[in-house]
Amino acid sequence: MKIAHIIPTFNEKDNIGLMIDKIYSVGKNFPKWQNFIIIVDDHSPDGTADVVRQYKKKYKNVHLLLKKKEGLGRALIVGYQYAVKNIKADVVIPNDADFQWDPSDYPKLVKKIDQGYDVVVASRHVPGGKVVGWNWFRKLNHDISNSLLAWMVAGVHEVRDHAGNFKAIRVAGFLEKVPLIKMNNAGFSFQLHILYELGKTGAKFTEVPVIFKERKLGESKIGFNRYYIRDVFEYIKSSIIIRFDRSQRFIKYGIVGVVGLFLQTLLSKFLVNRNVDPSIAVSLGAESAIISNFLMNNYWTFNKHAISGLKMINKFIQFNTASIGAVIIQGVVVYLGTAIFGKEAWFWSMIFAIFFLVIPYSYFIYNRYIWKTHEY
Ligand code: GDD
Ligand code: MN
Repeated sequence: MKIAHIIPTFNEKDNIGLMIDKIYSVGKNFPKWQNFIIIVDDHSPDGTADVVRQYKKKYKNVHLLLKKKEGLGRALIVGYQYAVKNIKADVVIPNDADFQWDPSDYPKLVKKIDQGYDVVVASRHVPGGKVVGWNWFRKLNHDISNSLLAWMVAGVHEVRDHAGNFKAIRVAGFLEKVPLIKMNNAGFSFQLHILYELGKTGAKFTEVPVIFKERKLGESKIGFNRYYIRDVFEYIKSSIIIRFDRSQRFIKYGIVGVVGLFLQTLLSKFLVNRNVDPSIAVSLGAESAIISNFLMNNYWTFNKHAISGLKMINKFIQFNTASIGAVIIQGVVVYLGTAIFGKEAWFWSMIFAIFFLVIPYSYFIYNRYIWKTHEY
């Protein structure tokens, strides 16, 4: 297995050599892994690149990419692209140079990839994980970006820790599908955006608890400096873009629902006019909507997770079983509505049941069980 470690650096001359040594010494215990290290340096004035050049003599798979100072996000995008295109890595593992994320933890991440996960995030927010030594400003910053923006605004729920750099990503089928060229995150909003993009590829996520330690050598670049405001605004912008992009699925789902509702109304009205009992007429109408919903959602709303071939038969049975819930909900509400308000109330009872009960119920079931848009 080819593993590409991506380390962005800006003024990390005291750390980078130790980091390269550490990655290779840990790697010795896993002879099947071929470790490449890609250092993306923004021409650090402290001479980080010179240290890397020394290490290139010591290890053959160390690659140094030099570019102008553009921010952490840009450095990572360049590194990821190089890992996919030039190294043709199977797994990509970004990390910081400063040992805040312990590089000795990377075998734990790779093991999860071996178990079938596609994105394994080193996490401070699952039991066993934590942060050591952040001041109130860093904590507040992190809570706003992680809980308020990433979780609530962007709605990225695949993981609990969205901000960190350390993770393992499977390339085949997942990272290779992410349009890295189109990503233009200059700062740390990249961390959230890449998780979102990977989520769209249908990747299976998991988190491994780790302890985020204090930096011993060198200085942090992320803090209240001239890039701070730019990066914060970019993060807010990124969260909102993600929210809009995500809601496209819900809009499609809504349109599919309207088409289904139209079919259902036509059939139900037709049957009621022929003196079929309203609760039965509506149930049959609902079944016609189920069939149209299944097909349209499969090929349009959830096309990234589309089911094909013989599996469709199985899924359609599952979908119908799930939809029985929707049929029962409507049957019961129409029964109650007509019992209380008389036979004419069947239509509005049906509409009420669909909008307030069936729509949220179905959207949840589709995402979670039918098209399995992500791991819960
Ligand atoms: N090439 C390049 N260009 N590298 C950079 C730049 C840049 O503009 N800015 C930072 N880096 C490198 C640093 O040299 C270090 O290796 C790594 O990126 C992380 O930067 P730190 O300065 O150590 O930031 P931190 O400890 O505050 O970072 C934390 O927050 C980030 C954003 O949420 C960590 O959790 C990071 O993993 C996380 O990405
Ligand atoms: Mn750091």
